[in-house]
Amino acid sequence: MGNIIATMTLPSKPIGASRVTLSQLMHPDQANLLGNVHGGWIMKLADEAGALACMRHAQCKVVTVAIDSMTFREPIKIGDLVTFNAVVTYTGRTSMEAEVNVHAENPVTSERSHTNTAYLVYVALDDEGKPTEIPQLMAESAEETHTLTQAKERQGRRLKEKRIRESQ
Ligand SMILES: CC(C)(COP(=O)(O)OP(=O)(O)OC[C@H]1O[C@@H](n2cnc3c(N)ncnc32)[C@H](O)[C@@H]1OP(=O)(O)O)[C@@H](O)C(=O)NCCC(=O)NCCS
Repeated sequence: MGNIIATMTLPSKPIGASRVTLSQLMHPDQANLLGNVHGGWIMKLADEAGALACMRHAQCKVVTVAIDSMTFREPIKIGDLVTFNAVVTYTGRTSMEAEVNVHAENPVTSERSHTNTAYLVYVALDDEGKPTEIPQLMAESAEETHTLTQAKERQGRRLKEKRIRESQ
């Protein structure tokens, strides 16, 4: 008799339940040579916000497996309050995509700008550090269904690019 592989389907969770907001004041030690915020800080904090949203969804530790290219529309200044709004937008068996929207606000003038949107992929890990199954996402509106469809297409493109890279 062949091996029986037990699979357990976890209950789906709404997209909104994963939502995380992280805010941080930008300090002088985060400056680049031009005196604006170093892009690397923004990437690090976007990665943290995305990971938190995925941990909230999967309720376990996660590691970053891919980060899509990041474009900064305008500089973020020292003294700005930067907010990262992260939400899970795709779930595979063990992988998740988080969308992270970054806004910068001058706390004195309240001037606020959307500086960029980042997409990052994480893998859920069990206690032994192995990829582990996660709950699926549940769309609760037509807009959320659209969000899930677009995220699935992005993940499809990433995996296609990965296959091409690995075949070279
Ligand atoms: C993430 C890691 C555990 C995956 O292990 P693995 O043995 O390659 O596992 P798999 O090939 O089964 O991939 C796991 C999932 O990630 C997805 N994945 C793998 N590479 C991917 C990529 N480049 N882009 C998007 N998704 C990817 C797979 O499709 C799979 O998803 P699914 O289970 O939802 O179908 C392993 O690659 C790792 O430890 N990487 C280093 C992570 C790290 O240290 N991050 C911090 C960066 S410094």
